[in-house]
Amino acid sequence: MSRRPPRRQRATFRPLTGTQLESLVARHGTPLLVIDCSAIRHQYRALAAALPGVGLYYALKPLPHPDVVATLRDLGAGFDVATAGEIALVRALATLPPGVRVIAEPGRFIAGPAGTVVASVIGRAQREGRWWYYLDDGLYGSYSGQLFDHARYPIDALGVRGPRHPSVLAGPTCDSIDVIREDIPLPELSLGDLVVGRTMGAYTAAHATDFNFIPRARIVAVNRRTGRQRAD
Ligand SMILES: Cc1ncc(COP(=O)(O)O)c(C=O)c1O
Repeated sequence: MSRRPPRRQRATFRPLTGTQLESLVARHGTPLLVIDCSAIRHQYRALAAALPGVGLYYALKPLPHPDVVATLRDLGAGFDVATAGEIALVRALATLPPGVRVIAEPGRFIAGPAGTVVASVIGRAQREGRWWYYLDDGLYGSYSGQLFDHARYPIDALGVRGPRHPSVLAGPTCDSIDVIREDIPLPELSLGDLVVGRTMGAYTAAHATDFNFIPRARIVAVNRRTGRQRAD
């Protein structure tokens, strides 16, 4: 169900800049999942334009977050709800449609590009000539999509210059599978440096765990209102 036709569509959306991510980290700390609602709007409008006449029902699974629901509700999107939790979330923010319709249930297309994960280097060690960097987020947290969704995200250090060397990025649990990348070219990182994973909105926070008593990433939504594109 699309209650309203899609409005103007921007050709693309601008990824969050390093400065914006640094200022969000200064306010909220790491690990942090930043949801860019302007990316949600962009993806929804692109899909609506590509599928005229098809009712778009966002599948909540990949990113069941209230700001995502509110953003899509304001665009006239429908919601594909299957569990009691999803029904409660949508009921609190939007109206459930009556009856049966032919629909599309996009999830990752809408939510994926909206998520940026920022983690801090909390430890490092040199092993057999290669730097291992330990982050405060990993495969049991936001990077769980690498296990459950076989995803591979663009990852880079934020604002660190210097020659790049093949490095290992690991999560905070010391568990042997908690390795994000075994061979990623990175400049030499120091404790406190930030590592950013892009396109991490879908199937990341949705199945992150608190394994090892390590808290999962805080979630913050930015660009919640159209017209205030770069503010939260
Ligand atoms: C019934 C149903 N619809 C839609 C989706 C969303 O799939 P995707 O995120 O790949 O678009 C899922 C995902 O598991 C699903 O189970």
